[in-house]
Amino acid sequence: MSNLNSERILVTSALPYINGVKHMGNLAGSMLPADVYSRAMRLLGHDVLYICATDEHGTPAELAAAEAGLSVSEYCEKMHIAQKEAGANFKLSYDYFGRSSSAATHKLTQDFALALEANGFIEERTSQQVFSVADGRYLPDRYVEGICPNCGFEAARGDQCDNCGKLLDPVDLINPYSAVSGSHDVEIRDTNHLYLKQSDMSGKLRDWVESHRADWPALTTSIAMKWLDEGLRDRAITRDLEWGVPVVNAEGDVRDGFEGKVFYVWFDAPIAYIGATQDWAAETEGDWEKFWRTDKGADATRYVQFMGKDNVAFHTLSFPTTIMGSGQPWKLVDELKAFNWVTWYGGKFSTSQKRGVFMDQAIDIAPSDYWRWHLMANAPESSDAAFTWEDFQASVNSDLANVLGNFVNRITSYCVKKFDGVVPEGGEITDAEKWIQAELAERLPRMVSFYEAREFRKAMAETRAVWAAGNEYLTQAAPWTHYKTNVDQAAMGVRVGLNLVALFGVLAQPIIPDAAEKILSAMNIPEQFRTWNFREASFDDGPLNALPINHPISAPPVLFTKIEAEDIEAWTERFGGAE
Ligand code: 2FM
Ligand code: ZN
Repeated sequence: MSNLNSERILVTSALPYINGVKHMGNLAGSMLPADVYSRAMRLLGHDVLYICATDEHGTPAELAAAEAGLSVSEYCEKMHIAQKEAGANFKLSYDYFGRSSSAATHKLTQDFALALEANGFIEERTSQQVFSVADGRYLPDRYVEGICPNCGFEAARGDQCDNCGKLLDPVDLINPYSAVSGSHDVEIRDTNHLYLKQSDMSGKLRDWVESHRADWPALTTSIAMKWLDEGLRDRAITRDLEWGVPVVNAEGDVRDGFEGKVFYVWFDAPIAYIGATQDWAAETEGDWEKFWRTDKGADATRYVQFMGKDNVAFHTLSFPTTIMGSGQPWKLVDELKAFNWVTWYGGKFSTSQKRGVFMDQAIDIAPSDYWRWHLMANAPESSDAAFTWEDFQASVNSDLANVLGNFVNRITSYCVKKFDGVVPEGGEITDAEKWIQAELAERLPRMVSFYEAREFRKAMAETRAVWAAGNEYLTQAAPWTHYKTNVDQAAMGVRVGLNLVALFGVLAQPIIPDAAEKILSAMNIPEQFRTWNFREASFDDGPLNALPINHPISAPPVLFTKIEAEDIEAWTERFGGAE
């Protein structure tokens, strides 16, 4: 692709909470598609910056640290490293994987709050909160339990009753107790907090969401509109907690009455997209402003976010309120790709109930490529998608091993055996070559368009169709049959077959980077020829004629090992599966 079309693209995926390595559903709905998209856009010649970070604040982090017997900052440090490692194992190609606890994010968060207050979008209000004397802390809504005032259920959570479904206020629970310690020694106390006046921004937010109706997935706009239609409520953006970003005044001192309070984790987490970009810039001498400041070039940046559907409201309403309300030239998201859930056989993932696989376990039982392919080919785009071992097996055995792996192996080993491992010159162009050329001319641009539109299932289906067309070509060209009577004809099939192998390696890079690397290095393809410049496939000057005559190749090691029934049995035993 020519550089004229090269764009600057900022990609972020929802920041994973610090407490615990993520499960495969989390991976499939944010980090993995963001990675696949970033890789594809880089191959198309765009200037991509993919930023992610750990989301480190909030009560769950404090409680998890206490349980691990560590200070919160030690715990976060340790878990940040674990999550970074998990990402690296899955080949997530972050340009930077930062931390929401960084100094940059602290400063930005405090500055945003001051600007919002100066513009009238923040107000201090008094509310009632449950304080646990035994735990020595205020309890977030879902850590208070008691009897449901609506249905009498004994263990209703403060935010919602699991029995009757009613949304609750923890101060309404009968006989409340702390879910942290079980202590009934709790009091209802008055406490002051800062409120973000989202309601005042409703009109502007509605216009903005409306302006994206055509280019955002329906899932994204419908969630945003549902909240807007119900009427946006002002939200407390501070909490009674120790761990987090302190609330300060314009002089940088703790705001009066806000000792022992910090910003709510959902206020600073999206700001950490900016903070992490600043941290990236500091480490690389990069320019963060051209990604985030519209007065410094960010107007020419396309900003694409990836997340699960539970995060949409925060990214279409609260974070934009922060951005717009600051009155400063910050960049708003351009494209927001949201996903439904990957479920575990239709239900929830749960560590304690041995339901589902988490990132650190997944990598122990199968290579990352297998997971990447399966999760993207079955991305939860139009609805939730159930993970099953049987489907995973089918993706690996049929798509990867049979369709792609066999093709690569068959033609490369045949070339090594019969043509000394070099690309032969070949003979006449026959119908088979014309057929595959037409297939590619149609499919490759379509595949690129699906990537550009972030339609992952379709992009994967198109990729699989291209691999299948390669197999069909070999059936038609049948070099092994021609070899006995017409070596030139056989050579033609091998030459085109090898070019297809190289092409498949190039195509596979965003999805299954390890296998792609094996293919491309066996095919001896230098780095500069690994890009996607095949919008117009032609026989003379295109992917079918990329390899020079006499170019040396080798047969790669076995690319994919099939998943056997015994594997599924063992995994079901360990992680759960069909009942
Ligand atoms: O739902 C989550 O996992 C959150 N930690 C996502 C935060 S996204 C961003 F705003 F930081
Ligand atoms: Zn109830």
